[in-house]
Parts: sequence; structure tokens; C-alpha cells
Amino acid sequence: MIFQSQLRIPGPTPLPERVVRAASRPMIDHRGPEFAELLADVTEGARRAFETRNDLLVLTASGSGGLESAVANLVSPGDQVVVALCGNFGERFAGIAAGYGCELTRLEAEWGQPVEPDDLARVLEAQPDARVVLLTHNETSTGVTNRLAELAAVARSAQRLVVVDGVSSVSSMPIEVDRIGVDVAVSASQKGWMAPPGIAFVSVSERAWEFSERARSPRYYFDWKAARKQAQGGSTPWTPAVSVLYAVQEGIRMMEEEGLPSVYARHRRLADAMGAGLQAMGLQLFAAEGYRSATVTSALPMPGLEVSAYRRLLREKYGVVIAGGQGKMTGKLIRVGHLGAVSDGDVVQVLWAMERALEDLDMAPTDGRSMAAAAAFLAEEATAAAPA
Ligand SMILES: Cc1ncc(COP(=O)(O)O)c(C=O)c1O
Repeated sequence: MIFQSQLRIPGPTPLPERVVRAASRPMIDHRGPEFAELLADVTEGARRAFETRNDLLVLTASGSGGLESAVANLVSPGDQVVVALCGNFGERFAGIAAGYGCELTRLEAEWGQPVEPDDLARVLEAQPDARVVLLTHNETSTGVTNRLAELAAVARSAQRLVVVDGVSSVSSMPIEVDRIGVDVAVSASQKGWMAPPGIAFVSVSERAWEFSERARSPRYYFDWKAARKQAQGGSTPWTPAVSVLYAVQEGIRMMEEEGLPSVYARHRRLADAMGAGLQAMGLQLFAAEGYRSATVTSALPMPGLEVSAYRRLLREKYGVVIAGGQGKMTGKLIRVGHLGAVSDGDVVQVLWAMERALEDLDMAPTDGRSMAAAAAFLAEEATAAAPA
């Protein structure tokens, strides 16, 4: 009998009990004063996580809706756009831009590797008419975190608009929108925010507003101007996902009680522990060293390990739910999410189940080596962090 499952996909993430309670509050008038207060509170909280004083739009949509809103508001059909990508979500951003009729120049890094700033500089030099650059901060499909500050600096020095998919990074790792000069960044509620899916956050700089004035793509539901105008009066143009917003509000409260720097440090520490554990288990980490994500760890299965059978066993026998590969890595990758409500104990529990399941499949012995690798790491970090 499995009493509780460990949801360890890279989003949606587990909901803390406080968040579940918040989401189940009675409904309110979405044009009334309580909603205005809720929206203002969530907007300010999100601004702190994005580290921006730019406009922050709260849209009822998944992350992809936030990305589509960026394209719809920034480009006109036929515009040249550079998209720097290194995985399936970069492909999605490119697909959206192609869908809006943009002429794309693709800079694609090998999956598992980051986008190199020098390569971006070269592509931008060769494409002087591409005014918009689409970047992915944390490529969830491969577990790679790009060096966003460096990429943004390259794009800005070439006077391009910097548009960032931060869906699986913002709230789990610093993005520093204002400091590094990101014009548009997008995140979504089901990631580190510890809330259900349904809300996208989009930060919009003054420069991005100027682009949106000129852009001629068709837009209606995702019209940023309508969202901003309505937010100034304390509501949204369309009926919002009120319950998800209550959940986001509580998630932000929890993050701020912990302190954002501590939230980021916890994600990093647990990612390092997870990586050490998976390696000790005999799996090869997929993301390039130095670029391994704080929110999702990816690993190649050992020869003979069938990813879908392994995931099924983990889910059915151990109650541990992990992700597989996406796009061209379908069936070829194991991905473990560790974002939002995740603790040291969760990492150890997941590794224990993963080791046991490998033994069930006759792929590796269970002797606790992955937990030892992770626990030693956690202990080491805890000691280092302990006051003198
Ligand atoms: C980096 C990244 N971009 C975009 C998305 C798409 O977001 P959604 O599934 O909320 O539409 C995801 C979702 O996993 C993501 O991780």
C-alpha cells in the first residue's frame, strides 16, 4: 500500500498543505476589493522573485501562454527573430515565434550543453535586423541552466530585446531581471511557486512596451496593454484563476518566510545532492558540468534500462513519480525534479526508491550508496553552513 506519493517531476510540484488550504477558500468577486488586494499582493511578491520594478503581468494561462503572449505582443509577421535553444522548451519558444510568422535564425546548442555567449554574439552580428532574441534560462528538458547574465549582456550590447523563458527557474534560482537587463521574463505557478498550474507571470520592461506599440501580430486574450490597464484598476481583463492566485499568494508567503536567498541555496544544495546520488547509482549525468540545473537533474539510463518500465515500477511500487526525456530524448533520459516544496529527506527517499527499483530490475545492487553519496553531501553542506 502506498500512502503518499513523491511527485518529483519538474512541475507541477507538490503542494504544501498551507497552499492547498489557501486554494480551497470560498470564491470571491473577481471585480471586487478582495480580488484587487489579492492581485496587488501576488504582483508585488512576484516582482520580488523576478527582482524587477518593471510591470509584472499576471495572466491566467500556463507557462506556454506567457511565452505566446510575449511573441504576440513583441513581433509582427515577417520579423527576424533569433532564438537560442538547447532543448525542447527552446524548441517550443521557436515554434511559437514560427507560428506568428517570424523569420527565425536558430542557434542550437547540443542538448545537454548550454548556449555559448560567443556563439550568440556571432549570430547577432550576422543578423542585424533581428531585433528580438528569445532565450531559455533553465532548459527543463535537459537539466541545463544557461548563463543568463552573460547571454543577456551579449544581446543588450547588440541592442536587441532580451526575452527569457524563466518558467522553471524564477522563484527557485535568482534571475535578477533588472540587474542583468532582461526585457521580458516569463514564469508559471506550477514550478517553484508551489502552486497549481494556471497562472503565468510576465515582466515587461519599458523597451518591451515600445516594441509592443509597434508590433502588429494579432492578439486579444493575451493583449498586454489590456492586462496592464485592468490591473491598474485592481482586476484582470478576463475571469482569472482566483483559486490558483490564492495558492500563489500562500506559496510566495512561504518562500519569503524562508527567505529567497535560503530558497535558492536549498535548491542548489538539493540538486547537488541529487546529482551525487544518481552518479553513485551508476547513472551518468546528462547536463554539462557547471551548468546543472538547481530545479531538475537529468541522467542517461545505464545500457539495458528501459526508462518507461523503470518509471512505471517507481510509480507503482514505490510511489515515486519522476520524468523521462522529451522530444528527441524521449525514452533516453531520466529526469528528477527538485523544485518548490522539497527537503533533504525527499531527496534521500527518492534515491532510496530509485536504487531499490534498479535492483528489482537486476540493473544494480541496492547497498545505499546513492543515499550515502547524497547524505554525505548534505551533511557536509550542513556543517559548512552551521554557525561557528
Ligand atoms: C522551461 C520551460 N518552458 C516552458 C514550459 C511550458 O510551460 P507550461 O507547461 O506551463 O505551458 C515549461 C514547462 O515545463 C518549462 O519548463
